[in-house]
Amino acid sequence: MQKVLSYIEKNQDRFLEELKDFLRIPSISNNAENKKDVLRCAHYVADQLRQIGMQQTQLFPTSGHPIVYGEWLGAPGQPAILCYGHYDVQPVDPLDLWISGPFDPTIRNGEIFARGSVDDKGQVLMNFKGVEAHLKSEGKLPVNVKFLIEGEEEVGSANLDHFIVNHKELLKADVVLISDTPMFDRGVPSICYGLRGLVYCQIDLKGTNSDLHSGSFGGTVINPNFALAQIIMSLKDREGRIQIPGFYDDVLPMSPEEKQELARLPFNEEKYQKDLGAPAPFGEKGYGTLERIWVRPTLELNGLCGGFIGEGAKTVIPAKAMAKISMRLVPNQDPDKIADLFERYVKQIASPSVELTVTRMHGGKAWVAPIDHPAIQAASRAFEKAFGKRPVFVREGGSIPVVATFAELLGLPSVLMGIGLPDENAHAPNEKLDLFNFQTGIAGSAHFFNEMKQE
Ligand code: BES
Ligand code: MN
Ligand code: MN
Repeated sequence: MQKVLSYIEKNQDRFLEELKDFLRIPSISNNAENKKDVLRCAHYVADQLRQIGMQQTQLFPTSGHPIVYGEWLGAPGQPAILCYGHYDVQPVDPLDLWISGPFDPTIRNGEIFARGSVDDKGQVLMNFKGVEAHLKSEGKLPVNVKFLIEGEEEVGSANLDHFIVNHKELLKADVVLISDTPMFDRGVPSICYGLRGLVYCQIDLKGTNSDLHSGSFGGTVINPNFALAQIIMSLKDREGRIQIPGFYDDVLPMSPEEKQELARLPFNEEKYQKDLGAPAPFGEKGYGTLERIWVRPTLELNGLCGGFIGEGAKTVIPAKAMAKISMRLVPNQDPDKIADLFERYVKQIASPSVELTVTRMHGGKAWVAPIDHPAIQAASRAFEKAFGKRPVFVREGGSIPVVATFAELLGLPSVLMGIGLPDENAHAPNEKLDLFNFQTGIAGSAHFFNEMKQE
């Protein structure tokens, strides 16, 4: 590994320049006007794959954004690692809160600021460079490697499952490697062994054909804003417990062993509140913050709109109101069943004086893995070698729905070696990536391929 590690050391500056080029491409998958940029980004990924020595590199068009694939299969008899990541990024609004432009990567205090730096371009590039270091210094990799980098993760991976089903042979592997999660804290290398699932719905309410004068019509028809507020107020009680009948039925309790492990983590509730600027903790009774994130499902109101929100006052009854609502799920909860329960309940509590539509958007299953799996143990050794510290095992509240898909459709275990930090502003203004973690993560990635080698 010495040659591999010194290659990483020597090429540090170039890796950073390549990261900047990657980050300059505004690959916002959610914006139709960025479609060409997303395509350009897919080509950037393919060019990278070719440069680092992958073969069969190609773009697979989908009805949305392309999937990029490349492989190196020169280690017969050795396992194959399927590396998954995404090259698309979240929208940048509110733009005025960015200190430097979201697509003008800027380094301040050892951190690179740009949309996509931590989620997920920096972590994708980290695995590219881990592979490159082997191929360019040793002429080979200790194991076989395949890359599957998609451009629609941030919009629900609508075309990915279909692609996986139709390319089972191409994607044949022994284990999936994903770097798209945060570390527990700065200086605490972490392996993630659990993710929450997701159900995302939109509720549309229509009261009347048009907005109405609230003097002429007030009191004669329902106000959709009120009807919506009533629905929302019935979803949770004041302590945050979800009121949808059956919602918690399939939730599994945390095992005593896992509870013990959790209690060992260096977590400070007070600091957590303070860093977030929250006046007081809030959440489901009987659970600590980490349990609330790891093993408890939630329901969030992601956005609301209805009626007049401009300057001044306008006496109006809006014709329509809308809410975006998502639920984070935990292992054993079925997204379709939860979506059914949600829809049935909302229809039951909605006022009959309003027309209600529930639209299901994307979703996915939660996931949890046994930490004694040999590939997870290999990841642990790899991070220990790179960071000089034994990693902790954590679960996360976010979702990567394809992880459950890999398990179900391909029978593949996943290893989540993320090097983001919880305060790196993923999805928010001033997204950033710690450059020490980027650099050390490249070594961690290189070590992982080595640790996966079978004697
Ligand atoms: N990288 C995140 C997933 C993530 C975030 C894992 C935080 C662990 C902790 C990913 O890019 C993401 O944002 N996923 C979406 C999924 C959705 C669009 C289906 C999410 O979690 O909201
Ligand atoms: Mn991500
Ligand atoms: Mn994301």
